[in-house]
Amino acid sequence: MSTHTPVETYNDKVVRQFAVVTVIWGIIGMAVGVLIAAQLYWPDLFNGISWLSYGRLRPLHTNAVIFAFGGNAVFAASYYAVQRTSHVPLFLPKLAAFTFWGWQAAIVAAVLTLPLGITSGKEYAELEWPIDILIALVWVAYGVVFFGTVIKRRVKHIYVANWFFGAYIIAIALLHIFNSLAIPAGMWKSYPVYAGAVDAMVQWWYGHNAVGFFLTVNFLGMMYYFVPKQVGRPIYSYRLSIVHFWALIAVYMWAGPHHLQYTALPDWAQSLGMVFSLVLLAPSWGGAINGVMTLSGAWHKLRTDPVLKFMIVALSFYMIATFEGPMMSIKTVNSLSHYTDWTVGHVHAGALGWVAMISIGALYALFPRLYGTAGMYSTKWIDVHFWVHTIGVLLYAAAMWIAGVMQGLMWRASNADGTLTYTFAESVSATYPYYLIRMLGGVLVVAGMLLMAVNVWKTRQMNPNAELAPVPVPAPAHA
Ligand code: HEM
Ligand code: HEM
Repeated sequence: MSTHTPVETYNDKVVRQFAVVTVIWGIIGMAVGVLIAAQLYWPDLFNGISWLSYGRLRPLHTNAVIFAFGGNAVFAASYYAVQRTSHVPLFLPKLAAFTFWGWQAAIVAAVLTLPLGITSGKEYAELEWPIDILIALVWVAYGVVFFGTVIKRRVKHIYVANWFFGAYIIAIALLHIFNSLAIPAGMWKSYPVYAGAVDAMVQWWYGHNAVGFFLTVNFLGMMYYFVPKQVGRPIYSYRLSIVHFWALIAVYMWAGPHHLQYTALPDWAQSLGMVFSLVLLAPSWGGAINGVMTLSGAWHKLRTDPVLKFMIVALSFYMIATFEGPMMSIKTVNSLSHYTDWTVGHVHAGALGWVAMISIGALYALFPRLYGTAGMYSTKWIDVHFWVHTIGVLLYAAAMWIAGVMQGLMWRASNADGTLTYTFAESVSATYPYYLIRMLGGVLVVAGMLLMAVNVWKTRQMNPNAELAPVPVPAPAHA
C-alpha cells in the first residue's frame, strides 16, 4: 500500500462554475441592455406590459451586468489568483461553494423581483431587504474564504492583485451594509433609515464607490494578475503598483459628491467631490500605465495574441473613462453634461470598454487553464470577438458622447428675449438617430458574447474530463 499523503490540488471547480456563469449572465445582462436601448428608440415596444416596461428593465440591466456579469467574473478571477499566488487551495471549500450558490440565488431573486416592480428605488441598490441580507451573508463568506486563503499562504509575499481584491471585499461590505440600512414595512417593502439630503449623500457615497470598487478596484486586481501572466513578464513597476493602490484607496471615498453637483448638498461638499475627482486622475492613469508598460519589450505579442488585445484596449478605455470622469466632475462642465447621454457614454466607455474587455480577456486566459487545454478552441474567433466588441463599444460611446453634448447645448440655448430656443421634445427627436447607432453597437457586443459562448463550449468538449484531473499545488519550498 502506498504511504505518501494525497497530493494537494487547487480548487478550480468553483472557479470554473463562476467563469461559466459569467458568460451566461453577460449575454443575458447585455441582451437586456439592447432591449432597453431598443425601447428608447421605439418607445411603444411592449406597450402596456408592466413587467417589460423601461423603468423595470433598466435596473434589471444594471444589476445583471454589474453584479451578475462583473461580480461572477471577479469571483472567478480572485479565487483563481489568490490560490496561485498563495500556493494553497481555497480556505473552506464548502463555504466557497456557498458563495457560488448564494450569489446565484441573489441574482435569480433580482431577476424575479425587479420586473415585478419590487424595488427600494436606490440606484444600484434596488434590491429589497431580504435579498440584501442574503448578499451580506454571501459577502462575509467571500471575505472568510479569500482572507483565510491569504492567511494560509505558503508564499511570504502578498501579491498586489490580492491587495486590490481584498480592498474590494472590505469596501463593498461597508458600502452595502450602510447604504442598505432600512426599516422593513412588510416582506417586500422597506424605508431607508436616512432622510432628505443625508439619504442622497449616503446613496451617492455608495453609488460612486460601487463604481470605484465594484467596477474599478476589483478589475484592477484582475489586471494585475492576468496582464503579466498573459505577457509572460512581471508587472512593469511593483513600486508603482503599491503607490497606485494606496492613492486610489485614499482618494476614491471622497469623490462621491460629484454625482450631486448643484443639489441641496452643501456647496463645500460639492467642491470637495470635484477636487478629489480631479486628483483621482493621477493614480488612475498611473495604474493603467503600469499595466500597459508591462508589455514593454514584448509589444510584438499584440500582433498575434487577441487575448492581450482585449486587455490592452481595456486599459485604454479605462484611461479614457478616468480622464473624462474628472472633467465631468468640474462644476461648470457638469452643468452641461448632467442629465444628458454624455453620462451614459462615459458609463459605457468604462463598463463595456474597461470592465467587459478586461473580464473577457481574463476569461479567455482562464478557460484553457480550467479545462486543461493548450488554448481556446479557436483563436481566430477570439480575434473576431475582439473586433466586433471594439467596434460595438466605439459606436455606443461615440453616439452617446455626441448626443449628450448636443442635448446639453440645446437645453441651454436661448433667444435674445430670454426664451428657450428649443423645446425638450425637439432635443428628444434630434437624439433618435444616435439611439439607433447605440442599439446597433449593443447588438454587435452581444453577437461577440454569443461567439464567445460557443468557443467556451467547444473548448470544454476538447477535454470533457478536465474536472477529474485537478492541478496540484506546488510543493512548499525549503529554505
Ligand atoms: C450590449 C451591451 C449594453 C447595452 C446595449 C447597454 C445599454 C444600456 C442602456 C440603453 C442604458 C440606459 C441608459 C439611459 O437610461 O438613458 C444603460 C444603462 C446602464 N448600463 Fe448598460 N448596456 C450594455 C452593457 C453594459 C455593461 C457591460 C455594463 C457594466 C458592466 C453596463 C452598465 C450600465 C450602467 C451602470 C447603466 C446606468 C447608467 C446611468 O445611470 O447613467 N451596461 N445601458
Ligand atoms: C477618475 C475616475 C472617474 C471619475 C472622477 C468619474 C466621475 C464621474 C462623474 C463626474 C459622473 C457624472 C455624475 C453626474 O453628473 O451625475 C460619473 C458618472 C458615472 N461614472 Fe464615472 N468617473 C470615473 C471613472 C469611472 C469608471 C472607470 C467607471 C466604470 C465603469 C465609471 C462609471 C460611472 C457610472 C456608472 C456613472 C453613472 C452614475 C449614475 O448616475 O447612475 N466612472 N462619473
